[in-house]
Amino acid sequence: DVYKRQWLRRIIAPAVSARRMAALRPVVEKVAAELADGLETTPAGAATDLRARYAVPLPIAVIGHLMGVPAGRREEFRARVDRVFDTMISPAEAAANTAALYTLLDDLIAAKRAEPGDDLTSALIAVREEDGGSALTEEELRDTLLLMINAGYETTVNLIDQAVTTLLTRPEQLAHVRTGRAGWADVVEETLRHDPPVKHLPMRFAVRDIPLPDGRTILKGEAILASYAAANRHPDWHDAPDAFDVTRITKDHLAFGHGIHFCLGAALARLEGETALRVLFDRFPDIELSVEPGELRPLASLISNGHRSLPVRPRP
Ligand code: HEM
Repeated sequence: DVYKRQWLRRIIAPAVSARRMAALRPVVEKVAAELADGLETTPAGAATDLRARYAVPLPIAVIGHLMGVPAGRREEFRARVDRVFDTMISPAEAAANTAALYTLLDDLIAAKRAEPGDDLTSALIAVREEDGGSALTEEELRDTLLLMINAGYETTVNLIDQAVTTLLTRPEQLAHVRTGRAGWADVVEETLRHDPPVKHLPMRFAVRDIPLPDGRTILKGEAILASYAAANRHPDWHDAPDAFDVTRITKDHLAFGHGIHFCLGAALARLEGETALRVLFDRFPDIELSVEPGELRPLASLISNGHRSLPVRPRP
């Protein structure tokens, strides 16, 4: 219900606040650098899938760290989370994967209860115990962790995927960063505007009648599809809205939603995006797409805005 949701937001928010994110910066740097080490093993001239090898494992590792997943189970955690969004596996395999992920989260909760650490899982447990165990049930504890994974994983993967794709297909935009006319934060923000990781969000329903400026009314109870992709390119909002321009002064967008459900992980997503880009382009200054841009295939999704794969040559 609404009150519980708001209450949960208050508990989670400090764990992902801008201040906490500053402390997390070295962790994100390390994760990105290690993944770049992995990419370096690609033989000169050979292609590799940057989405699978860089964009996907980075957010999983960061969320795992935030939640306090112990080193010995990070690989299992990575494999399980990776499969949550795999639509090519059978329903039985998906169910088995979910069950295994639940077991992993239950083990994590048990371990943190025995030995609390400086992590989100321990923070959620502490709140629960302060409230005498009645406030947040075991199931809610686990589902909150799962919410963080679901909300913070594929979205960030898409952000990295789209930003890299844009820089590799529009060299003049990358040049703006190289010459100091724009920063990595500008690339992240313009990517969020131009190619939001969540294109559309269905399953919203009007809680009251909503009159629109054109005279029509969305009636109470009617379904709403929030199209962040369309809103971000509204001509009343931005000049030349379809142009990707990293030097735009105003890059306002709705990629993180709006209002009481505004994304709790926005600061983390920005940190991950900026770090991923900086580390990648510093380490592989000559990285290039290994297919024609027109050959990149979008994900088969109404919601998730990324590519099925992102073939690149890190070392041409
Ligand atoms: C580029 C990356 C991301 C994008 C584009 C994104 C986008 C969004 C959007 C559009 C919403 C609002 C949904 C609605 O109106 O109901 C949302 C909510 C949320 N996001 Fe993100 N998100 C990103 C990354 C993250 C990360 C890294 C985390 C945490 C680890 C996170 C945690 C959440 C949570 C917990 C909510 C629910 C808030 C609520 O319902 O009150 N997100 N996100």
